[in-house]
Amino acid sequence: MGSILEARNVEFEYLHGSPVLSDINFELFQGKNLGIVGESGSGKSTILRLLLGIRKPTDGEILFGGKNLSVADKKQAREFRAQVQVVFQDPYSSLDPRQRIDRLIAEPLVSLGLANSLGGNSRESRRRWIESQVEDSLRSVGLSTDSLKKYPAEFSGGQRQRVAIARAIVCNPKVLLADEPVSALDVTTRVQVIDLLKELGESRGQTIVMVSHDLAVVAALCDETIVLEKGAIVEKGKTSKVLGNPSQSYTRKLIESLPRLPH
Ligand SMILES: Nc1ncnc2c1ncn2[C@@H]1O[C@H](COP(=O)(O)OP(=O)(O)OP(=O)(O)O)[C@@H](O)[C@H]1O
Ligand SMILES: [Mg+2]
Repeated sequence: MGSILEARNVEFEYLHGSPVLSDINFELFQGKNLGIVGESGSGKSTILRLLLGIRKPTDGEILFGGKNLSVADKKQAREFRAQVQVVFQDPYSSLDPRQRIDRLIAEPLVSLGLANSLGGNSRESRRRWIESQVEDSLRSVGLSTDSLKKYPAEFSGGQRQRVAIARAIVCNPKVLLADEPVSALDVTTRVQVIDLLKELGESRGQTIVMVSHDLAVVAALCDETIVLEKGAIVEKGKTSKVLGNPSQSYTRKLIESLPRLPH
């Protein structure tokens, strides 16, 4: 089976900047969560921006379903946007505080026009379709439908991150990109959100790309891991091998220096 996403000989620099990523190659396969680890500034979030299509490689290609993202036509670009969603680190700033939870979660369905193509012909049937998708994804993240009319401020950090995840999965994406999604949470909540992400992978078939400083998070969730040093991949492979028996001294240092979850 082919990969869902692939980085092929990717080089990247920000405008007027020095190279941030060089010779990046990897593939993401359905059902195989991928972890990206590396020091601060090594380029982890930049890789996610490229995978999300909000930045274009300076050289090389990002392929989605085998097709180069940069040359995608409108229809392909829209399909891509529904298939690859993201959850960010900060559940406080990533949700618009003026909107109720039901509207926040429905937003991708509305902005991608999915209700028009999937929700039926009448306004009423589209409204009901959106409502059922939103309730579905809210339940998938373990929140009750009592939450629908509340505002983000009425939730704890962990619950807000669940809302952010519900919004990311409402259009049933194939891939969920997560940039330090649990590092703003306390340890107990962190474990719960990681369990949730793991479960979503299993129940909804979503494949996760997880950037985390916390190697225990990556070890718990990811089948494969990439180690980045100054924008280059220095090690990649099965997580158990990369983190359990690293071949590079950089990876060993990373393992020694980073915090771990108590077990
Ligand atoms: N918008 C930007 N414009 C210019 N340079 C940037 C921009 N974003 C990041 N950089 C630079 O690119 C490099 C990689 O940054 P990136 O944010 O991808 O690192 P990271 O691995 O996610 O770090 P952290 O763990 O601190 O989040 C850094 O040198 C950073 O200063
Ligand atoms: Mg980052």
